[in-house]
Amino acid sequence: MSIPILLVFSLLFVASTASVQDFCVADLSKSDTPSGFPCKDAKKLSVDDFVYSGLGVAGNTTNLIKAAVTPAFTAQFPGVNGLGISMARLDLATGGVIPMHTHPGGSEVLVVIQGTICAGFISSANSVYFKTLYKGDIMVFPQGLLHFQINSGKGPALAFVSFSSPVPGLQITDFALFANDLPTELVVATTFLDAAVVKKLKGVLGGTN
Ligand SMILES: *[C@@H]1O[C@H](CO)[C@@H](O)[C@H](O)[C@H]1NC(C)=O
Repeated sequence: MSIPILLVFSLLFVASTASVQDFCVADLSKSDTPSGFPCKDAKKLSVDDFVYSGLGVAGNTTNLIKAAVTPAFTAQFPGVNGLGISMARLDLATGGVIPMHTHPGGSEVLVVIQGTICAGFISSANSVYFKTLYKGDIMVFPQGLLHFQINSGKGPALAFVSFSSPVPGLQITDFALFANDLPTELVVATTFLDAAVVKKLKGVLGGTN
């Protein structure tokens, strides 16, 4: 082999060994990092690291919002670690609602499997986009924007959502405002709501102060 051909082969070898790795199943016994969890030892993996059956089970909707979000994020489904994707299941009983919330880490696509869902989001210019969705409809919710889903039909509704992040996060606005110990006077000062309303909502959602 001539020297130039050897050089090309060795460069190819370097390039292939330096290429991206196929996957990085999260080792949940280690700490999370900004770029995801450390990888489980590839020699210890099986197909079950890439399969999650938790979304086949309806969430418990006997609660205040008559709805349940069942996530398949890295914490539940370590196989999505590092891949930039994840999913969740939404169960909405009759009258159920996923209250106004955001996913700071990712955009969302929702597909309606059963029932009727009024879904919408609010842009950072405060424009509102909402629509009644039926079986088979999909809607996208851009990253970080406030959005909601309401069961607007007469029976239960079911939807699946996917995210452009294995850890999209979930912050529900009412819980952020009324389910913690942020003093009532600060909630009043920052929301313009009446103190009586704030105290009532803190009572319902478990907040104090
Ligand atoms: C659903 O949640 C309610 C309220 O926490 C609880 O009483 C009930 O037992 C749960 N149902 C099931 C099937 O787990």
